[in-house]
Amino acid sequence: MGSSSNPSYRIVAIPGEGIGPEVVEASLKILQHVAKIEGFTLQVDYGWVGAIALKQLGSYFPQATAQLCDGSDGIVFGAVSQGGLLELRKHFDFFCNLRPIRSVKSLLHKSSLRPEKVQGLDMLIVRELVSGIYFGPSGRSSDDQGTYGYHTMRYYDEEIRRIARRALEQAQYRRGLLTVAHKENALPHLPWTRLVQEEATKFPGVVIEALLVDNLAMQMVINPQRFDVILAGNLFGDILSDIGGALVGSIGLLGSASLNANGFGLYEAIHGTAPDIAGKGIANPLGTLGACILMLQQWGEVQAAQRIIAAQDRILSKGYRTSDLSPQGEEILVNTETLVDLLLEEVSTVQHSEIGVLHESGK
Ligand code: IPM
Ligand code: MG
Repeated sequence: MGSSSNPSYRIVAIPGEGIGPEVVEASLKILQHVAKIEGFTLQVDYGWVGAIALKQLGSYFPQATAQLCDGSDGIVFGAVSQGGLLELRKHFDFFCNLRPIRSVKSLLHKSSLRPEKVQGLDMLIVRELVSGIYFGPSGRSSDDQGTYGYHTMRYYDEEIRRIARRALEQAQYRRGLLTVAHKENALPHLPWTRLVQEEATKFPGVVIEALLVDNLAMQMVINPQRFDVILAGNLFGDILSDIGGALVGSIGLLGSASLNANGFGLYEAIHGTAPDIAGKGIANPLGTLGACILMLQQWGEVQAAQRIIAAQDRILSKGYRTSDLSPQGEEILVNTETLVDLLLEEVSTVQHSEIGVLHESGK
């Protein structure tokens, strides 16, 4: 990062596969444009992870990519179908995954629920990202009963405590309710509730609610508006966050930030490579753009972030939709390129004086 008068940031873009390259390019175009307007510079290096990396550099997560990311101000990630992403998350200890789920006023009718059920929806899933069943002892083996496979859900208490503190911090800034996803009726050796409650003594303003994860999933589709911050382990957080996509109308709208203890982060949409639409130029870039907004906020470039949010809200309220949002009636179907052009134009017309009042969050 450069001086505060004219900051300069270096990011590493990892486009990956499928629609990854399309949504990353789209988002970077908008980021560069906003950087110019707001007076900071953005240097972009390209790195490789996943199948492409394996083919070109002999490994799903090559050392060259790790080195490129080292000392950068953030990683903007597209999508990969297999290999590399988990290693990347683990390598930089990106344990704190933030997945905001907010409804957009002009898209309320796109939700799988009735519009009044998602109006004003504003929840944050805080997902532990570098431990649990994704990283526990695993393998394939055999004994006298046959061949078997296993993945182990293992958490050190301290891994639960550190993500709990992040979730508590978030709840403190927000509405002060922290819902803990657990499965203690079947998995009693993972005492999420007790550990979170112990950490919570340092956060007297936050109310802790513990819900069995199966019940929590049901509550998310019965009454999603009741939630503020949801804390979940790696696997449960993965599953619950896709429900978020259904609530807001398309998983293509959701972005996430994965941070380590130093605030260094990986920014990616929560969707995958979408091979069915890859290469057609019709992918929704707003998930990756949403992740980039989180990156700007993490840098303290709040005006730049607000500018993109405002432009995006305007474009959506004018009725422009990518195909994942199944436009009907008055709505206008656009491809990725057109949506980006519209956003570029809109981003330039947002006045500083308007920033802060324009966010049409559905409230
Ligand atoms: C996500 C994805 C990944 C995950 C996959 C691609 C490994 O589903 O980020 O939600 O499970 O973490
Ligand atoms: Mg997922």
